[in-house]
Amino acid sequence: MVDLKDCSRRNMDPIIKADDVAYPILQVPDLALQEKFLVHFGLHVAERTDDALYMHCEGSQPFVHETRLGPKKFIGSAFLALSMSDLEKLSATDSFGGIEEIKGPGGGFKVFGQDPDGLGVEVVFGRNERKRNSSLEPEFMNVVVSETETFQRLNRAKRFQKGAYPQIKRYGHYALHCTDVEASLAWYNTHLGIIATDIYKAPPADEETPVGGIFARLDRGDKPADHHTILMTSTALSNGRAGFNHVSFEMVNIDDVFMGHEVLAKHGYEPEWGIGRHYMGSQIFDYCRSPFGQVHEHQTDGDAQKRQNADLDEICLKARAALGPQCAQRGNH
Ligand SMILES: [Fe+2]
Repeated sequence: MVDLKDCSRRNMDPIIKADDVAYPILQVPDLALQEKFLVHFGLHVAERTDDALYMHCEGSQPFVHETRLGPKKFIGSAFLALSMSDLEKLSATDSFGGIEEIKGPGGGFKVFGQDPDGLGVEVVFGRNERKRNSSLEPEFMNVVVSETETFQRLNRAKRFQKGAYPQIKRYGHYALHCTDVEASLAWYNTHLGIIATDIYKAPPADEETPVGGIFARLDRGDKPADHHTILMTSTALSNGRAGFNHVSFEMVNIDDVFMGHEVLAKHGYEPEWGIGRHYMGSQIFDYCRSPFGQVHEHQTDGDAQKRQNADLDEICLKARAALGPQCAQRGNH
């Protein structure tokens, strides 16, 4: 058994330290239908070819979502590397292939590898940014806690167009079902520097209770990192099959989560879970299924941490939502 505290906190000598996630790579049999869903979800077409669809958000990333044409499948998720030499280091390992050019918008280079369950991991560097057409600045909220002054937004009402499309800031995280979550954490730690943030067990959460899941984050040193970049969860909810659970996108503001909920409901997509606030990670969340059953999440206001001042929590997870509806237990996505 891997010592989680050692591999996540102390014996830090990973091959590289990834700096962020870049985009998920999904595969579906109908790119036109996928495009329609993703536009309703809040993304915009960056490029569509006969066999691939690239979508961008309001941020400066050239694209934050890639779909390939073929049978429904999770191909993998991409991470950002900090240098070309990081790609060379990964390429020299048994888990990754050679360095290739990225075909999609923004160009750049990538290496593709597989984790212990054979799930794809792409690591990219040298992508050109797109010119942003949004300030990404949310409207202030009148929630400052002060006895004498509680207003950040004075003489300015919030006026949203009913049915307006939500603004997405970035790709935030993804969740996997893993055959052995501890082995998966060790692999992501070794190759990408991913470290555990919180570990959960189902009740009674004693020594014999297996680890139910690990919320793991990037090790960005003094720079803050999201509470989790990958959720590695057991295959207990997926009929024992390793694979995809969901992808998550960070919104500009809470208002965008509500807008997304309304727009997706209006167009008849199947809601999955939300709107609520998570227990671990604290995000305000809202999940929806694509026409192909692949779950996409809108979220905002999650926790962020720096490595040196965050302790590993091992928690008995009785509720996955701190506020809002509890999730009906669903199978593999
Ligand atoms: Fe999530």
